[in-house]
Amino acid sequence: MRVLVTGGLGFIGSHTVVELQNEGFDVVIIDDLSNSSEDVLEGIVAITGKRPDFVRLDLRDRKAVSTFFAENKDLDGVIHFAAFKAVGESVAKPLNYYENNLNTLVYMLQELSAMQRARFIFSSSCTVYGQADKMPITESAPVKAAESPYGNTKQIGEEIIRDTCKVTPNLQAIALRYFNPMGAHPSAHIGELPLGVPQNLVPFITQTGVGLRKELSVFGSDYPTSDGTCIRDYIHVVDVAKAHVVALQRLLKEENASNFDVFNLGTGTGSTVLEVIESFERVSGEKLNYKMVARRPGDVITAYADTTKANEVLGWKAESTLDDAMKSAWDWEQKIRRPEAVSQ
Ligand code: UD1
Repeated sequence: MRVLVTGGLGFIGSHTVVELQNEGFDVVIIDDLSNSSEDVLEGIVAITGKRPDFVRLDLRDRKAVSTFFAENKDLDGVIHFAAFKAVGESVAKPLNYYENNLNTLVYMLQELSAMQRARFIFSSSCTVYGQADKMPITESAPVKAAESPYGNTKQIGEEIIRDTCKVTPNLQAIALRYFNPMGAHPSAHIGELPLGVPQNLVPFITQTGVGLRKELSVFGSDYPTSDGTCIRDYIHVVDVAKAHVVALQRLLKEENASNFDVFNLGTGTGSTVLEVIESFERVSGEKLNYKMVARRPGDVITAYADTTKANEVLGWKAESTLDDAMKSAWDWEQKIRRPEAVSQ
């Protein structure tokens, strides 16, 4: 079985390539290296002993996409991670986000529609729910108006796939709505590599822990939660990666009930920002410098998943705890910033 993974050198993509190869799939990666590095390939080889094929290609290049598919007619499935994902940047440069995240999706679906049989997995986000009325959030919770162009590309992306599947019986698709992926491979051969100042909580924490940032700003301490900080569903990236393999296998075995389905990927447990900080302090044995600051515009108060559908229908369940995931994130951060400490 041969699978195309777009964005396969990125954070979630690279961990998924590892799990695919562990399950015996052959993988070809497309990545434009806009937010990743070719060195990630070496990490994948170190873990799996197998080098995936790699094609450096910008999926906005329609002609290059056609050529790729013409030369790769043996694909059994496509997992499409390649996209921009910075919320703030999407507000400043909406057209970049719509162009990159939506044009490339359309191109992929055009190519897949022309295939005799196509299976497609799409990276979506819990951001499609906005501030849901009920916790935990099920897949049938209403999709709310997006807070950012980035979030909108995930909503519109799902609609594009749904509309295409309706009229394309040879195309089977699943959208996976990620809650808050974090952590790294336990081997510390691959992990998250944010460019510049991290926008997400966990890489900011580990970079602060390692001394790269002075202190973490906790955005908001007056929310109506147990300790006043926001609640999210943090899930180990390896659990997220494994869910992609299971979802693909479901499509390959033709077990899916309809040709477009969506699943939440979370643990089902919400943690406050302060609980995440405590987890860091527990696993690292270090005190974290942090201060409480004003709320960040656009943040929802609480978001955690009802995972019943993924558990029962996919037969997948997140296995790692917050501390497991944090330990892997910390090991990775130390490896890339303090290699001398790790090798001792
Ligand atoms: C964010 C996006 C979400 C996107 C996801 C992908 C927003 C509103 N949401 O999720 O759409 O799918 O990233 O990367 O941007 N926090 C701090 N200090 C920090 C950073 C974060 O206190 O320096 C807090 C936030 O206020 C939030 C929690 O930590 O309560 C998690 O934040 P983050 O990691 O940015 O994820 P989301 O906001 O949940």
